[in-house]
Amino acid sequence: MATEQIISMRNVCKSYKMGSERLNVLKNVDFTVNKGEFTAILGPSGSGKSTLMNIIGCMDTFDSGSYSLNGIPIHQTKERELANIRNHEIGFIFQNYHLIPTYTVMQNIIMPLLMRGQDRKSAEKDCREIVEMLGLSERIHHKPSELSGGQRQRVAIARALCSKPSLLLADEPTGALDQTSGTEVLKLFTKLHEMGNTIVMITHDLNVAKWAQRTIRIVDGEISEEAVNA
Ligand SMILES: Nc1ncnc2c1ncn2[C@@H]1O[C@H](COP(=O)(O)OP(=O)(O)OP(=O)(O)O)[C@@H](O)[C@H]1O
Ligand SMILES: [Mg+2]
Repeated sequence: MATEQIISMRNVCKSYKMGSERLNVLKNVDFTVNKGEFTAILGPSGSGKSTLMNIIGCMDTFDSGSYSLNGIPIHQTKERELANIRNHEIGFIFQNYHLIPTYTVMQNIIMPLLMRGQDRKSAEKDCREIVEMLGLSERIHHKPSELSGGQRQRVAIARALCSKPSLLLADEPTGALDQTSGTEVLKLFTKLHEMGNTIVMITHDLNVAKWAQRTIRIVDGEISEEAVNA
């Protein structure tokens, strides 16, 4: 069976207009991510990581080049269709969790499923399974403010997983956590990778990137090196 590509980017360029000048932020970015890979995108501040993440996540457009996500040609897709693709294909995990503070753990996790039209009973069943796998069963009716940072991030991961996306896209997922909780989240990513999930994790921290199977480096908008991690 041919290897399935989840991300295929070819010569992607992105610039921002600054007054009369143009700032080239991504320069001929070219890489692929296969189904089942755990990849880190590593780069210093200002290198273009968030810009690249926004493009991978179908939240921003680019000037030239091509990008296919799970076989869908994003460069040929109208902007108004991107939200739908984004909701189905990508599970987002952010540094600051992005949980709804007035909702319980379960309400946070099932909300995207209900919005997609899944019935509440089956959404709650899916939620319970994932919550159990992530060791959060005791907390299912708690609000985010009653949880530790590491637990909040696990809720955000559960919410991302529940939609069964083709890609988990994490932006500095341990950035707001102490070392112990950060390591727990990275161990969880390792487990999810072993279970077959495709993960792209964006970070400026080499020690975080080392948890991935593969590291793509971005420096000044260019991909400078790819290393297979030991
Ligand atoms: N909307 C924008 N308009 C103009 N310039 C921008 C815009 N967004 C980002 N930039 C510039 O593009 C470059 C890359 O920014 P980006 O946010 O992608 O970097 P980053 O690698 O995510 O950095 P950090 O690690 O600090 O989050 C920077 O020089 C930044 O100033
Ligand atoms: Mg950034």
